[in-house]
Amino acid sequence: MSRIISPEEVAKHNQKSDIWVIIHGKVYDLTQFLPDHPGGQKIIMKYAGKDATKAFEPIHPPDIVDRFLAPEVCMGSIDLEKLSHVKIEETEEDKQIRLAREKMPRLEEMYNSFDFETVARSVLKSDAWAYYSSGSDDEITMRENHSAFHRIWFRPRVMVNVKDVDTSTEMLGSRTSLPLYITATALGKLGHPEGEVVLTKACKTRDIIQMIPTLASCSFDEIVNAAGPNQAQWLQLYVNSNRQVSEKFVRHAESRGMKGLFITVDAPQLGHREKDMRQKYSQEDPDEISRNSTEVVRDQGAARAISNFIDPSLCWDDIAWFKSITNMPILIKGVQTAQDAVLAAKYGCKGIVLSNHGGRQLDFAPSAIEILAEVMDALKRENLDKGFEVYIDGGIRRGSDIFKAIALGAKGVGIGRPFLYAMSSYGVEGVEKLLDLFQSEFEMVMRFMGVTKISDITADMVDIRNIKDHFVANPIDYLSQTSYERMQPRGGSKL
Ligand SMILES: Cc1cc2nc3c(=O)[nH]c(=O)nc-3n(C[C@H](O)[C@H](O)[C@H](O)COP(=O)(O)O)c2cc1C
Repeated sequence: MSRIISPEEVAKHNQKSDIWVIIHGKVYDLTQFLPDHPGGQKIIMKYAGKDATKAFEPIHPPDIVDRFLAPEVCMGSIDLEKLSHVKIEETEEDKQIRLAREKMPRLEEMYNSFDFETVARSVLKSDAWAYYSSGSDDEITMRENHSAFHRIWFRPRVMVNVKDVDTSTEMLGSRTSLPLYITATALGKLGHPEGEVVLTKACKTRDIIQMIPTLASCSFDEIVNAAGPNQAQWLQLYVNSNRQVSEKFVRHAESRGMKGLFITVDAPQLGHREKDMRQKYSQEDPDEISRNSTEVVRDQGAARAISNFIDPSLCWDDIAWFKSITNMPILIKGVQTAQDAVLAAKYGCKGIVLSNHGGRQLDFAPSAIEILAEVMDALKRENLDKGFEVYIDGGIRRGSDIFKAIALGAKGVGIGRPFLYAMSSYGVEGVEKLLDLFQSEFEMVMRFMGVTKISDITADMVDIRNIKDHFVANPIDYLSQTSYERMQPRGGSKL
């Protein structure tokens, strides 16, 4: 039986030389751990003698306390009854968010994916907004991901009977209502207290596939348990330098019925997402940082804090090992050239995701849609296209974007940020609404294009003559710019 400790007693331990905090109902003495905390000391000091659960949960894997803290530092359990009477003061940011939430438009007033982005920006905490919305360096690739779609125009056909349109298809052998999946994005609880299961629940009612991230805020099993009996899910894997950890995870995922293993290969180190980094830096005490500048690097934002384990030595030879430990189809997420697409097929992968990680890694990497046509040509030339599934992600915000990707040979598309924004602002209903909007936009485009089923969509329906021409004048994308151009985190940057 662990000792029951009152909040008053915890509150007495609020100094650097003697600091206790409450996490998930347990009281920890973090005095020794304080200087080693990868996220810096200030954030722990903020919760000295208090309950840190709300701040801790979104950005730490569920098992991290057991892995990093010795059992002796757990002083006992908090008296939950007494804790429930402790008044928590509302911060200025919390107040702003509460007011913004009161003013949110009704769900029926949301007409497209950009609407969710605009609302999310006002209701997300500044650290969550910085982490979700950031791209790397100058965010050129992040913007290009979306604007590249503007260089593709349609060749619509008329006088076709389009009374009944079927948007359903199959991806990796699973039926889905749309050629779209919710892609893997880490740290769901930054946006919504229930985290990734919000996406799972919406996918269940709309027959959509969810890719589960290695770095989810919920545990893998929580996400799988929230799915329906026949709901298809995929696993995104960051390969751990300790291969035994990855092997255990992959085997477990297979036993839980994952229908595909997507190995992320574009993150041998994390891109510099400066908005995220600056946000983190602004939470630190500048004196503290300069005094301890040789200590743990802590100015890297949420992204760096969670991803040090990713193995930069991962290479093509490792595919054989993955094939030896799993029967799940293996796909490579983060391919950015036709050469690597061909190699993935030659090494026996089932498919690829053309992706630059939502513009969060190499700035000036090409958008997936720009290289899709040449990738399909290269695969065909080598006779490697049959049964090899090509997906793309990055910047897909409209039903018309999905149509363009399918026309150029993609089996389906992954969408990331818009679902995070829908989840953060409106929960399950928001994600369902956004899926309904994609459904209705895609169905409309199919009808206007004169097709009634996915297999009717062909490359000659799109004009890609300008796709390589980065100088061509793009139509101004007012809707996305109103969000993207005002990206300074609220109260964060000192620039
Ligand atoms: C907040 C955020 C977190 C992400 N986390 C991961 C991750 O853990 N693993 C991964 O393979 N990709 C991750 N991605 C990349 C996405 O899977 C996907 O490639 C990208 O979001 C697609 O672009 P979009 O957001 O413009 O739709 C993340 C993207 C975002 C925006």
